[in-house]
Amino acid sequence: MKSNRRDFLRTATFAGAGAVTGGMIAGCAPKQPESNMANIVEAVKRSHTQKFNMSGYGAPGLPVVRVGIIGLGDRGSGAVERLSFIEGVEIKALGDKREVAVKESQKYLKSIGRPEALEFFGSEDAWKKLIELPDLDLIYTCTPWVLHTPVCVYAMEHGKHAASEVPIARTIDEAWQLVETSERTKKHCMMLENCCYDFFELLTLNMARQGMFGDIIHGEGAYIHNLMGYNFKKPLDERQSDGAYTDMWRLKENATRNGNLYPTHGLGPICQVLNINRGDRLEFLSSVSTNDFTMGIKEKDLAASDPFFTQWKDSKFRGNFNTTIIRTALGKSIMVQHDVSSEHPYSRIHLVKGTKGMAVKYPKQLIALGETWLKDEDMANLWAEKTPEILKRVGEMAKIVGGHGGMDFIMDWRLRDCLRNGFPLDQDVYDGAAWSSIAPLSEWSVANNCQSIEVPDFTGGSWKTNKPHEINLETGGTTKVLEVKKTEAEMQLNVK
Ligand SMILES: NC(=O)c1ccc[n+]([C@@H]2O[C@H](COP(=O)([O-])OP(=O)(O)OC[C@H]3O[C@@H](n4cnc5c(N)ncnc54)[C@H](O)[C@@H]3O)[C@@H](O)[C@H]2O)c1
Repeated sequence: MKSNRRDFLRTATFAGAGAVTGGMIAGCAPKQPESNMANIVEAVKRSHTQKFNMSGYGAPGLPVVRVGIIGLGDRGSGAVERLSFIEGVEIKALGDKREVAVKESQKYLKSIGRPEALEFFGSEDAWKKLIELPDLDLIYTCTPWVLHTPVCVYAMEHGKHAASEVPIARTIDEAWQLVETSERTKKHCMMLENCCYDFFELLTLNMARQGMFGDIIHGEGAYIHNLMGYNFKKPLDERQSDGAYTDMWRLKENATRNGNLYPTHGLGPICQVLNINRGDRLEFLSSVSTNDFTMGIKEKDLAASDPFFTQWKDSKFRGNFNTTIIRTALGKSIMVQHDVSSEHPYSRIHLVKGTKGMAVKYPKQLIALGETWLKDEDMANLWAEKTPEILKRVGEMAKIVGGHGGMDFIMDWRLRDCLRNGFPLDQDVYDGAAWSSIAPLSEWSVANNCQSIEVPDFTGGSWKTNKPHEINLETGGTTKVLEVKKTEAEMQLNVK
């Protein structure tokens, strides 16, 4: 079923180059990762003079946001549904290389009485024609990773704001391209990191902002989610009715790159707690991966009975478990883990460690303000007192509309509200670039025995003065939610 994955998030030229901060290991020549990142060290070294500061910038307000959505698989079709509940959002164009995906979302719009959207399908680059339409304000991208930056850049070059699924960039060069294009065009470029809008993450962000944990000194995040079943799913038909990834794109990523490939779900909320790009910045990292103990075996098992899978026989599957540690300019630390190929309960960890207390989300939500964990009753009081305004305003509605328990909807609602009111976005281009950069940087570190490598300062120094984003809706919050009619069964699907 399509909805399965949607609801399951819980659901360099080296030495002395300045970019490599650690010492060399004797006898080991630095290596480039095998994936496509030949210029990584040059890309890291690049200095950036900001042309225009997109942090804190609100583009002119839009009473109506005319949206084109590209990539209508599992994630994109869900976005069509969620956006259709938000006042002042007009879904004007639908794009996917698969005609059937476009038709399915069109059918949905018709079923709720919305005007027909323009359709773009049938080729690998039909999305360009969609972006070239004159009367669109926002391009919302839910394609495989390789297309995120090309689509966003093309969108901004054509006068549209861009929003992309995670990670928004696959390479450091791509991250720079996004930053440079956004600054030059003054178009927003937001990575859609939905986990920043989950309930516990927002509660702990609010508490951190109020100093309840003291100085935050360390954070941990992760993406630990066994995707073996989905990654190895053979696409049965054009409809992807078995829940497979299109063209098995995600297995290809895991078969060609070794590092922390999907860092932003765990990292994003921790960066917000630490005011990364707004008072502090990610400075350098080291990363280590285990060997692969499952994917190669699975490929052999499958190939034994189905020759289709022999196409993967020479793959160097990534290590199962990656651990990346990052240090910030102000001397804080962050640990990010990644594992999509072994059996483990789902976890994004979300550990916030301060000088006076800490919080952790997985496997169980716990908060300590001092040296003992709060009891259930105290936790309930905390939720009552410290829930940020954004959750009070749309949290309950979001649980009904759904999308990973509601966080997806809160994100979409907030994006639309910022665009309506001409506010800066909560996640600007610098956040998307920095958070996404951890994947290629970790690949380099893994390929080089864990040596440290600098994280570029995508803000060009403005991190020192940029202000934290708003979570208490002191202004705005004016976007209404349209009538939500969902059955109990449909709502259940969205509970993590
Ligand atoms: N934020 C989250 O919680 C979350 C959850 C799942 C997936 N994702 C992200 O969403 C994105 C999509 O994932 P998915 O699970 O929907 O994958 P999917 O394979 O189900 O969907 C991808 C869609 O993109 C289309 N596509 C591929 N190449 C295209 C092209 N050249 N032009 C137009 N369309 C093209 C495919 O036909 C397909 O419909 C990925 O970036 C993934 O990381 C995010």
